[in-house]
Amino acid sequence: MNTIEKTDKYVFNTYGRIKKVFVRGEGSTLWDEDGNKYTDFLAGIAVCSLGHCHPEVTSAITRQASTLVHVSNLYYTQPQAELAQMLVEKSFADRVFFANSGAEANEAAIKLARRYFNREDGNKRYKIISMKQSFHGRTMATLTATGQDKIKHGFQPLIDGFVHIPFNDINVLKETVDETVCAIMMEPIQGEGGVIAANPEYLRAVRKLCDKEGILLIFDEVQTGMGRCGHLFAHEIYDVRPDIMTLAKALANGLPMGAMLATEKAAQGFAVGSHATTFGGTPLVSSVAIAVLSIISSPEFLKDCRDKGDYLKNRLNSLKKNHPEIRDVRGDGLLVGMELEIEASEIVEKCLKKGFIINAIQGNILRFAPPLIITREEIDALVDVLDNVL
Ligand SMILES: Cc1ncc(COP(=O)(O)O)c(C=O)c1O
Repeated sequence: MNTIEKTDKYVFNTYGRIKKVFVRGEGSTLWDEDGNKYTDFLAGIAVCSLGHCHPEVTSAITRQASTLVHVSNLYYTQPQAELAQMLVEKSFADRVFFANSGAEANEAAIKLARRYFNREDGNKRYKIISMKQSFHGRTMATLTATGQDKIKHGFQPLIDGFVHIPFNDINVLKETVDETVCAIMMEPIQGEGGVIAANPEYLRAVRKLCDKEGILLIFDEVQTGMGRCGHLFAHEIYDVRPDIMTLAKALANGLPMGAMLATEKAAQGFAVGSHATTFGGTPLVSSVAIAVLSIISSPEFLKDCRDKGDYLKNRLNSLKKNHPEIRDVRGDGLLVGMELEIEASEIVEKCLKKGFIINAIQGNILRFAPPLIITREEIDALVDVLDNVL
């Protein structure tokens, strides 16, 4: 049996995989088992932001792997302390909880919001308002929070106390908030939902509403965080701060890590024993995340992401002239969506045949989330191929 046959026989059949086996990566390039070369405009779904096998990431992995990998959160380790300090100093937050994935970081945020109000008011405030088209993960609470029916299919009964409303509609939000709501949870830019950004006035009004009602604002920056949108965190584009933020994906450039960050006030919702995970913030993943954060958070690196993001959007927009099937090009930094009048998956397949990895979401949207180290030459090459394929 080859790798594809073995996977299809022995691994759960939960992924619709493209029949391609990758064996090696370097920078923005991947190689398959037949030696074919591909330029990666997906980065493992916005994960390998420093590209594949970045020397500083590899060095952090090997150095820490030969020193100390795991001891549990019953004890202290220097890399976890260091990483937490860095995240706090570079964000709005005062405290960090380390998890292992985006869903787990969001699960922690949901639990924190509920417990924050549970302490003082009994269980009066427990509802979480989230947005239609949102994506927050696949655990029971996070799939309940997710605003897409296809993710929930077959898992009923879902968890009580979640309400979904249209994104970018402040009037509906105002009508929905009542004394039972503990938090509003949203992505500043919806990734899986189709690269749909919050309107700046909307986000500012949401913050104001949360302050007025005394409820918590949770930003899910699992996909948009860590420089993806040209700022360390996407909410910086809007100059609107949350009370709680979740990160994962690019945090350790491919090693599994999630994090929930919160203000000191919101963090009071948890006490010793309220929440835990065996693997959260091991010395291994923390060391890697320190290396990643040190590079990505530099102002020059982030400016370069913004410039290349603008370049990518301009080049994609230039295709509109000859391709009326392109409806819209949108996004921030290097998270870019191209909405089409036609099926996107066929375009993805054809680009793959020509050596470019891109991704289709929501049926008719192409998503580009390349490593943040992508070059203008690589962008030009992709746009030429897209021109041809379209
Ligand atoms: C915004 C957002 N939140 C949460 C998740 C879930 O993250 P994970 O797959 O690491 O559980 C994702 C994954 O795509 C995401 O894009």
